[in-house]
Amino acid sequence: MSIAEKFAAMEYGPAPEDPKEAVAWLERHGRRFSHFINGEWEKPAAGAYFDSHDPSNGEKLAAIAQGSAADVDAAVKAARTASPKWQALTPHARARYLYAIARQIQKHSRLFSVIETMDNGKPIRESRDIDIPLVARHFYHHAGWAQLLEQEFPEYVACGVVGQIIPWNFPLLMLAWKIAPALATGNTVVLKPAEFTSLTALLFAEVCQEVGLPAGVVNIVTGDGSTGEALVRHPDVDKIAFTGSTEVGRAIRSATAASHKRLSLELGGKSPFIIFEDADLDSAVEGLVDGIWFNQGQVCCAGSRLLVQESIAENLMAKVRERMSSLRIGPPLDKAIDIGAIVARVQLDRIRRLVDQGVADGATCWQPQVVLPSRGFYYPPTLLSNVHPTSIVAQQEIFGPVLATMTFRTPREAVELANNTVYGLAACVWSESINVALHTAAQLKAGVVWVNCTNLFDASCGFGGYRESGYGREGGREGLLEYLEPAWFKNAPALPASKAPATPGAEQRAEPGVPAIDRTVKLYIGGKQARPDSGYSMEVRGPSGELLGEAPLGNRKDIRNAVEAARKAESWAKATAHNRAQVLYYSAENLSQRRDEIVRRLATAVGEKQAAAEVDLGIERIFSYAAWADKFDGAVHNPPFRNVAIAMHEAIGTVGIVCPAEVPLLGFLSLAMPVLAAGNAVIAIPSETYPLITGDLYQLFDTSDVPGGAINIVTGYASQLLKTLAEHDDVDAIWCFGDESQAAAAKSASIGNLKQVFTNEGRAIDWFNPKVAEGRWFLEHATQVKNIWVPYGE
Ligand code: NAI
Repeated sequence: MSIAEKFAAMEYGPAPEDPKEAVAWLERHGRRFSHFINGEWEKPAAGAYFDSHDPSNGEKLAAIAQGSAADVDAAVKAARTASPKWQALTPHARARYLYAIARQIQKHSRLFSVIETMDNGKPIRESRDIDIPLVARHFYHHAGWAQLLEQEFPEYVACGVVGQIIPWNFPLLMLAWKIAPALATGNTVVLKPAEFTSLTALLFAEVCQEVGLPAGVVNIVTGDGSTGEALVRHPDVDKIAFTGSTEVGRAIRSATAASHKRLSLELGGKSPFIIFEDADLDSAVEGLVDGIWFNQGQVCCAGSRLLVQESIAENLMAKVRERMSSLRIGPPLDKAIDIGAIVARVQLDRIRRLVDQGVADGATCWQPQVVLPSRGFYYPPTLLSNVHPTSIVAQQEIFGPVLATMTFRTPREAVELANNTVYGLAACVWSESINVALHTAAQLKAGVVWVNCTNLFDASCGFGGYRESGYGREGGREGLLEYLEPAWFKNAPALPASKAPATPGAEQRAEPGVPAIDRTVKLYIGGKQARPDSGYSMEVRGPSGELLGEAPLGNRKDIRNAVEAARKAESWAKATAHNRAQVLYYSAENLSQRRDEIVRRLATAVGEKQAAAEVDLGIERIFSYAAWADKFDGAVHNPPFRNVAIAMHEAIGTVGIVCPAEVPLLGFLSLAMPVLAAGNAVIAIPSETYPLITGDLYQLFDTSDVPGGAINIVTGYASQLLKTLAEHDDVDAIWCFGDESQAAAAKSASIGNLKQVFTNEGRAIDWFNPKVAEGRWFLEHATQVKNIWVPYGE
């Protein structure tokens, strides 16, 4: 071919990366890898190994140790032993280690990239230009957080020993997202890489040795799901951080429910990629290439559902097909390859199965004419059109280079379609109108929204999901909080197990022959007093058994009604923060006017002194959250791109609250007020000791302009009502502040829709001490952070 012909054809020649160094590294280890425990290479106790392959050609790369429960135990012990010394280091000393790790990763970046590509199958262009630079950036950024820790989080301490389980799609990057914040906050780590992609984690272990990281601070135990399970179940692990499938996320929630392990889950997604008719279509198509064909579509936040405005659909689809035809698929070590290999046969089979099912559901499948390499696992870029919103390919994560397309007419329809998923990880919005783009972004139920850009990540910006995409964030300030706990909370004593409701027997207070004035409260649902569905009441008795009154015995139906009312309370969610503050102030004002009568009644249950303190501090607590309502703001990040990322604090939605038994009024207000202040709707189960407080509370809310449904109160037996609340798919979060068994019940019943659970872990909280019982810690649990990335400049 002449130069002129080559110029006209613009064909790429092969540009293979030389794997020599990577092969030498494998050979140096005899192509057999042990676990990295306590700073040493440790052979697996059971002597078992499994093979790891290069998915681009099926060749064996190395034998990897299969971790057993004994190996996990050894690693946890090493991490536990290392923990006090690591925590005792100064923030600056820890910062130096993180900085050293970042430097080493940069120095070995080519080796890391090549090994990553060989092990995972992703194009070298991506591992070299995206994965590894982001890994280094993560350690640099967190070296900074380590340095600032005591200044920025003065009242917090590390969780302790953290178990981390990562997937195969971004092996080293997921390791960095887990290990950097954990070390920066003073935790020690046991990390289990995914079984398909252990190699870069093992090379990272060498980096830990090179920088002289104290033994036991980072331990790497390789193996499959059973190794992960052993780590999850290990009793001496304080926190589990997991990234992977929603199914395994659920199993982990279930396995940790009865423990005090903190949990963060970054799970699957089915992210919408919305293109409005006024978008810059050529840019949007380029965005789509990064959105769904990046890393062969094996990306949790892949823009796998293309939602395109009907008026431009035909034109856009033609552009997409044309661009797909120029994507180059082939051996990933070739520097000019766009699409590499699928990680393993099982994943390839899964993609094929789902696409076949989509076609059987009526979708039209289009693939460019490409020749796939004869060896290895490859799947061509695929476009599915005419996809019905209920089709499996519109609902389930495919985790492959497959785009499912639907059309919409109006922005409203776009939002409805976009949110029509159980997931909520990410979304893209393309429109030249900043108004349309930001208005849409605000309505999307997703932890990350990219406006006119896609798949941008940075250590300074939190990443994580809403709904069944999991909870917790990685990156940014909010990511650090996942590895920290308030010092007072960690050391708080356990509450005694809650007693059965008081039994009658002691003297009645009313004089014989003179009936007491009946004090029977009702439920409070949708801004109205409501009789319980059961038609039954529970007797409420004072400390010495005297009858104080009767409270309705709420049941499943009442909870369901309350959830429905809460879902309809949109005006509260949409109210401005200033509005919400005004309503809360008004409640405080009304509480203060009724102070004496409420104290008098509450005193019958908790005594004069406590009653007075509860009401007086209750007024203060409402004031405090009225103050916070318009001050718990988000942030604006400056990632190293021409972007700002607006980190917004958003309400979670509908929150079910089990109030503490021992402090009926102040406990209720301490939990309901932050939830309300953040714009959530509440279904509260008041103290079983004195549910009669409900009567005072609804009078308060009725007279304070709280819109109907924003707060609902269902009295009854907390353990029964909690179950219904936690199992309800329209409840987004549970706050449970009872005894230890209730905390466990709240977690295990919340597995269905993976709702967020915030509990006291059965520990006593001094509700009379504002330093521990109010403020940011509660507000952080009442909100979730949405990062909206907005580009600027040319
Ligand atoms: P997976 O969720 O099974 O694997 C992720 C990690 O969890 C691996 O390290 C694995 O060994 C470990 N693991 C598996 N079972 C476990 C258990 N019971 N307890 C503790 N750890 C356990 O994901 P898999 O099977 O590799 O992929 C299946 C599907 O999951 C993919 O097709 C994709 O849809 C989704 N996925 C989502 C990811 C994300 O980033 N959100 C990442 C990987 C997979």
